[in-house]
Amino acid sequence: MPSDISSLREQILEFKEQKRAIILSHNYQRDEVQEIADFVGDSLELSRTAATIKCDMIVFCGVNFMAESASILSPEKTVLLPEINAVCPMADMIRVDSPRPVRRSFPGFDTPPSFVYPPEFTLRDIKQRYPGVPVVAYVNTTADIKAESDICCTSANVVKVIDSLPGDQVICIPDKNLSMWATKNTKKKVIAWDGFCHVHERVTPEDVKRARAEHPGALVMAHPECRIEVLDMADHVTSTSGMLRYATSSTAREFVVGTEIGLMHRLRKENPEKTFYPLRKDMICPNMKKTTLNSILRAFKENIHVIKVPEHIRVPAKKALDRMLEIK
Ligand code: 13P
Ligand code: SF4
Repeated sequence: MPSDISSLREQILEFKEQKRAIILSHNYQRDEVQEIADFVGDSLELSRTAATIKCDMIVFCGVNFMAESASILSPEKTVLLPEINAVCPMADMIRVDSPRPVRRSFPGFDTPPSFVYPPEFTLRDIKQRYPGVPVVAYVNTTADIKAESDICCTSANVVKVIDSLPGDQVICIPDKNLSMWATKNTKKKVIAWDGFCHVHERVTPEDVKRARAEHPGALVMAHPECRIEVLDMADHVTSTSGMLRYATSSTAREFVVGTEIGLMHRLRKENPEKTFYPLRKDMICPNMKKTTLNSILRAFKENIHVIKVPEHIRVPAKKALDRMLEIK
């Protein structure tokens, strides 16, 4: 390991002890960030950890909605987001009451199984249009959206969450792809928003065909943020940590990975005898890559950036997160 990296690591570890801090990292973070973290996981695992872990400070290496969720769940802890501009563009595609333009496109999707709301509407509009229909908010949303929702979900539990709700329809925001995938796996009618993750949305059926031709023995895993026509071609659809579990327990030796390339680090490290190929080499989330060892060290030194949610939003947002965490 180069000496500047070892020195950065040493300084971070010293601060961590001094401040009784825990470093959490999402599976998409840079390799060296994952390596210094106390816990690396998918959004559901990270929320569970943030809610229960004993410490004074959480340094969250991920994007802003993740640090926000940690602060909502554990308000007594100081939650730091090392890079304040690490945001999730999808989380900004829906607003509570001031509309925001969103690109509308459903390439290759001729017959959406669910009704997708136009972007000029807001969450309050859709709630008014469907009074009493429960709102499921993907954790990739801002705290005020969570506060206006009945329950949260992640890619790991969306179907269980939808099936846990009363009635025969749900509003599911903001990812159209996750909603369309949920539609295929639940009997309920899913009223979807038309947000998307630009990293997963770019994958096409041609990419899957090419990957299968190049690696005929490999199983294809895809994240539910990919388009439905891509998901239909995959061998397994699951969250990032779900891919780790699937690859580890499978007898197959080769896998095509349909998610952000940061996950390749753990896949390869935890399965050294297996081979992993990215579905597309450009599946890179620039926001997830903003955090570096230098930014973690600066976060400790300068106590930045403290993420805090006002109580009138935190309390109802926590209700939606807690309700999700109660589902096993
Ligand atoms: P998961 O790790 O929960 O599957 O989330 C994917 C993601 O895009 C987070 O931003
Ligand atoms: Fe948002 Fe997609 Fe990046 Fe996850 S990978 S933070 S959903 S843009």
